[in-house]
Amino acid sequence: MSDGTGVDTERETGGTEAIDPPASFVEQANVSDPAVREAFAENWPDCWERAADLLDWETPYDTVLDDSNEPFYEWFTGGRLNAAYNCVDRHVEGGGKNRAAIRWVGKRDETRTYTYQDLHREVNEFAAALRDLGVGEDDVVTLYMPMIPELPVAMLACARIGAPHSVVFAGFAADALATRMERADSEYLVTCDGYYRRGTAFNLKSKADNALLDVNHDVRETVVVDRLGDELGHHLPSHQRDYSDLLDAHAGERVDPVPRDAEDMLFLMYTSGTTGEPKGVKHTIGGYLAQAAWTSHAVLDLEPEDTHWCSADIGWITGHSYVVYGPLALGATTTMYEGTPDYPDRDRVWEIVDTNAVDVFYTAPTAIRAFMKWGKEYPERHDLSSLRLLGTVGEPINPRAWKWYHEHVGGGECPIVDTWWQTETGGMMISTLPGVDPMKPGSAGPPLPGVDVDVVDAAGDSVDAGEAGYLTVEKPWPGMLRTLYRNDERFVEECWQRTDDGGYRYAAGDGATVDGDGYVTVLGRIDDVVNVSGRRLGTMEIESAIVEVDGVAEAAVVGADDGPDTAVFAYVSTESGHDATAALRERIGDHVAAAIGPFARPDRVVFAPDLPKTRSGKIMRRLLTAIADGDDLGDTSALRNPEVVGEIEAAVRNE
Ligand code: WT7
Repeated sequence: MSDGTGVDTERETGGTEAIDPPASFVEQANVSDPAVREAFAENWPDCWERAADLLDWETPYDTVLDDSNEPFYEWFTGGRLNAAYNCVDRHVEGGGKNRAAIRWVGKRDETRTYTYQDLHREVNEFAAALRDLGVGEDDVVTLYMPMIPELPVAMLACARIGAPHSVVFAGFAADALATRMERADSEYLVTCDGYYRRGTAFNLKSKADNALLDVNHDVRETVVVDRLGDELGHHLPSHQRDYSDLLDAHAGERVDPVPRDAEDMLFLMYTSGTTGEPKGVKHTIGGYLAQAAWTSHAVLDLEPEDTHWCSADIGWITGHSYVVYGPLALGATTTMYEGTPDYPDRDRVWEIVDTNAVDVFYTAPTAIRAFMKWGKEYPERHDLSSLRLLGTVGEPINPRAWKWYHEHVGGGECPIVDTWWQTETGGMMISTLPGVDPMKPGSAGPPLPGVDVDVVDAAGDSVDAGEAGYLTVEKPWPGMLRTLYRNDERFVEECWQRTDDGGYRYAAGDGATVDGDGYVTVLGRIDDVVNVSGRRLGTMEIESAIVEVDGVAEAAVVGADDGPDTAVFAYVSTESGHDATAALRERIGDHVAAAIGPFARPDRVVFAPDLPKTRSGKIMRRLLTAIADGDDLGDTSALRNPEVVGEIEAAVRNE
C-alpha cells in the first residue's frame, strides 16, 4: 500500500513489544547512563567533545562546530591529527603492540594475524613506498582491492601521508572503476591480481587493466598485490609495481604521521544517487573518525580486548567505519573474511565466530535471512558463547529475522543493535544504546545522543506518532559528509532542505515512522535508489547501462518487494525491428553485470511495448512498482498511453 510518500507501509514492520537488555550486559557496557541523551541534548554541540576525546589530537581544536557557512558545516576546527596515528601508533606506544589488530580469514585453513606492531611496520613501509612513488598530500589514491589485509594497510598508509583514499568495491566492473578514477582525478591505483571465492581464483587485475585503458588522464603509478601467486599466470608489466617488492625496498623505514587539519579529506566514497552519475561523498578526518570511534564505543560497545567482526566489504562505507576506522581507533581486534558465508559449508560464519572467539558480530539483514533459511542447525554446530552483542545494518530487519538472530545466534542473551545510517552520515545515527535502551524488534530505535532526527511531511512539519513521513536530520553531526566532491551545488540541492527559520535540514531519502517512545522505524528509500543486499544502487545507473544494449529503446528500473527483500525489476521496450527475446534479456543482464558489476544484474527483465508515460513524457515509476508488487494501480488517468498497462501486467505475470 502506498500513502503518498511513496513508502510501502504494509511490510512487516516494528512491533510494540520491548525487550530490556540483560543486566549482565548493562553492568559491563561502555555507556549505561540512562540520562546520556538528555546530557548530550543540553550541551549540544559541545557534547560531541566526548567523541573527539576518544582521539589523540596533535593540536587541540578551538571550535567544536563552525556553522558560519551553512550547510557547509565544519567540526573541530583548528584541530590537527592523523588518522593512522590514532588507529595504529598510539596503541603500539600505549602497550598494545602485541594485541591482534587484524585477524584475517581467507581460503579454508588460511589465516593471517597482524598485531598492532605488524600493522605499524607494514603501514610505515607502504607509506614510505607511496611517497617514493610521488604520492603527495591531497593526491587521491584509488584502492581497488578485495578483502585482504593489504587493503586496510593501504588505507592507513594513505592516511599517514595525508593522501585521501577512494576505495572502489572489487565487485565493480572496469567501467565503474574508470569513472570513479576520472571523477576524482586519481593518478594512483593500488590493486590486486585477484581473490578467492568458493575456492576458485577470480581475476581482478584484468578488470583493473581494462579500466586503466579507459581513464582519460595519465595514471602515474599502479601497485599490484600478489594474492594468487601463479594461479592465474600473473605477469606484471614493467611499469607496474609489485606490492611486496615495494615493501622490501622500504623495509624498516618509518614515516612520521603527517598532522592534518581536522577538516582535511580522509577519503572519498562513491555512492549511488538519483541520477546516473555516482556521487563522490567527501569525509574529513576529525569529525568522521570521532563519530566512527564514538559509535564503536557506545553502540558496538567495543573495548581493546574485544574481537569485532563486521562482515561488510571494505568497499562500502560500513567496512570503512566498522571494519577499519572505528575498531582500530579503539585498539580492538577487527576480523576480515575474504570468502562467502556458505563455502565450504553453511556454517562457515559460525566456525569463524567460534575459532576467533568473536565478541561482537555486525552484519546485514539479508545475510540473517539467508542464515534463517539455511536453518538453525548451522549455528548450533558451534560454540557461539563468546558473542556479547549483535548488530545489523543496511536495510530494515523484519521482526521474524530479528528474533531468529536473537535466539539462534545470540542464545537469547545478546542485545541486538539495529543501526540506521548512510554513506553520507559516515557513522551510525539511529540505534538503541545496548547498555541503556530496551529493544523493539523491527525498529532501529531512538536517535543516538547528540543526533537530532525527525520524520516530517511534505511541508516539513513533524508527523504524528505512527504516521509515515520523510526521515530528516535537523542538526549537523561530526561524521556528516562535507560535500559531494567537486560538486557543491549538487550537495546543497540533493542533501539539504531549507527550514522555515532559514536553516537547513538533511534529507536522508528514506521513509520512516516514529512511535510514541521516539523509536524510529525505517521503511525504505523514497527516491530512485534501491537497497539490494545492503548495497545501494541508483535505478538511473542501471537504466543507463541497459539502454546501451543494442536493440533497447527505453528502460525503467524499480525496486520491488520480494518477501522482506528487494528485487530489481527492469522494464524494457525494444527498438523497432528488434524482438523481445530471451537472448536479448540475457544480453541486458550481462551488460549490466559488465558495466556496473554482477551484483547489479536485474532480478527480472520485463519487456513492454512501451513504458507508461504521463502526458509530459515522464515515465510513471510508481505504476511500475505497483505492478511489480502486485498492488492496486491507483489513479492512471494521467497516462498518455494507458493501454500499455494491461500488457505490462500480463508480461510480469507470464514470464
Ligand atoms: C541506506 C544507506 C551505512 C549502512 C550501509 C548502507 C538503508 C541502512 C538501515 C537500518 C533500515 C537502513 C537506508 C539508508 N539502511 N541502515 N538499520 N534500517 N534501513 O549504506 O549504501 O549509504 O545506504 O540503507 O535506506 O538510506 P548506504
